[in-house]
Formats: sequence, structure tokens, C-alpha cells
Amino acid sequence: MVCLGNICRSPLAEGVMRHLVNEKVLDWQIASAGTGNWHVGQAPDKRSIAVAKNYGYDISSQRARHFIASAFDEFDHILVMDKNNYRDVLSLAETEEQKKKVRLFLTNEAEVRDPYYDNDLFEPVLLEIEARCKEMLKELNS
Ligand code: 4NP
Repeated sequence: MVCLGNICRSPLAEGVMRHLVNEKVLDWQIASAGTGNWHVGQAPDKRSIAVAKNYGYDISSQRARHFIASAFDEFDHILVMDKNNYRDVLSLAETEEQKKKVRLFLTNEAEVRDPYYDNDLFEPVLLEIEARCKEMLKELNS
């Protein structure tokens, strides 16, 4: 799960997906990272932690990481929150196989809105992420 800062959107996607995967007792590795490195080592944004907690997800122990090219070898799917993330991640891919692993998290070319400058966006973003995680889990597990 990849966004810009790895403190708002992708930590939500990581936490929700790990929760759902654990419920199904699947042995999948879930992680998140940011295309920017400003927040590396930091906990998720307090607003993401709070909205996640309200819906039963604990993301408080996650720590921000910088997206690096080794992720192309470590993971089968690289899901990016918006088109800028898509461009930035794709620029680090070296092979066609690596490029094929990268896609937008949402369907139909939609982007997960960045809630960083808008407190009111955290809840709708969490709900959108939760719905897509559930759908994606079904797709990948069928
Ligand atoms: P995120 O949100 O990409 O969903 O983690 C942001 C977090 C921090 C910044 C921008 C977006 N920032 O500019 O520091």
C-alpha cells in the first residue's frame, strides 16, 4: 500500500487489510510505504489513528517507511493511492514484470483523496479504503 507520506492513507490501507487477512487466517504479508521520505519512522497521523480506532482497527504501532525498489521483489501487488504515486513508483520499476505489479488501489481510475489538509476527509477515506480492501481480498482470494 503506497501513498505520498505514509502517514494518512496507506497506513489505513495497511491496517485494514492486515486485519481482514488475519480474520481469514491467510499468511499474506501486508506493508505500506510513502514515495516521500519526510515522515520515515513516524507513527501514522493522529487523525488516521483515531478514525481507524473508531472502526475497530489499531494502526498505532505502524511506522512510516520510504518506498524503495526492493519492494518489487518482496511483494506481488503494489497498490498506489493516487496517480502521482503511480508515476513515482513506476519510475523505480526496471522490468515489465515489476511494472505489472503496480496498480491503483481503487478501481475505474479513481484516486484515494489525500486527507492531510482536510480533517473531514479522514472518515470517508477510511470507509472507501475499507470497502475496497474487502472487495480486493475477495478478488485475490478466489
Ligand atoms: P499521505 O498524506 O500521503 O496519505 O500520507 C500526506 C502526508 C503528509 C504530507 C502529504 C500527504 N506532507 O506533505 O507532509
